[in-house]
Amino acid sequence: MSKKVVKVKVPATTANLGAGFDTFGLALTLYNEFEVEEAEGIFIESFPENEFLKNPENNLFIKVVKYLCESEGKTFHGARLKQTINIPVARGLGSSATAIVAGILTSFAVHKKPLTDEEFFKVAYLFEPHPDNLLPAWKGGFITALKTEQKTYYSKIDFPKDIKAVVVIPDFELSTQLARSVLPKEVPLKDAIFNLQRATLFIKAIEEKKYDLLKVAMEDRLHQPYRKNLIPNFDKVIESAYKNGAIGASLSGAGSTMLALATENFDKIGQSMVEAFKEVSISAEYKVLDIDTEGAKIEIFEKEA
Ligand code: HSE
Repeated sequence: MSKKVVKVKVPATTANLGAGFDTFGLALTLYNEFEVEEAEGIFIESFPENEFLKNPENNLFIKVVKYLCESEGKTFHGARLKQTINIPVARGLGSSATAIVAGILTSFAVHKKPLTDEEFFKVAYLFEPHPDNLLPAWKGGFITALKTEQKTYYSKIDFPKDIKAVVVIPDFELSTQLARSVLPKEVPLKDAIFNLQRATLFIKAIEEKKYDLLKVAMEDRLHQPYRKNLIPNFDKVIESAYKNGAIGASLSGAGSTMLALATENFDKIGQSMVEAFKEVSISAEYKVLDIDTEGAKIEIFEKEA
């Protein structure tokens, strides 16, 4: 007897990129992997070991697959899941989005249902309301997105291949919920204009490879000024990135990871940002990543039971 196995690999994402708050997202070459087969009961193995994610109540992949099964009127009997979590959790690198995307892709593939944008968002938004993470995790690349009550509009924009992302991951978690709770409900018109001008400039700078524009284009007044109080030495970390050759720098998503964009000096930039965290007794590690252009990949094969 053979058993059907589904394997999905989904990239990390960095949202916002400074001025593009709740709008821009970029997929990175760091991946979570989910390998699943049907089972009687729920069995989760997690690499590295993660007690929290091994609990089905906390496991977003299982929650999504179960939801989709039950929403078809079927009984969810269980699953045997082997997950490899390379993307640090609660650090602003879209780890949750990978589980949601993987769960949706798996369910649609198993039930041989074509996945439309509409179906994707209908489910995905029940678990996470941020297209700036969900979309690049699903489709890869650099995406600008907006969500209305009725529909999500988005566009994928070519991102230059010579730019790498240096992500500096401090050893503390930051929940998106907390990072959003510090934001004001309303902002001054001049701050809205400030970001509008920069986000627009960011797109042109990327399209035309005018990298000298990125520093100003990644400035932000809508979220980072409020969130930086949650990230010790925030300004110094950004300053260190620029001093060592970054062409752009920002908070990654809702944090706590910090992002630098660069075309050279990657290690020097990463080390200097780690040093800036060290000054305030925070240990951090950096990774130099490329831009993932393909997004989530799914593979289905048969295995001898
Ligand atoms: N744009 C969202 C935020 C991303 O910054 O809160 C959350 O992952």
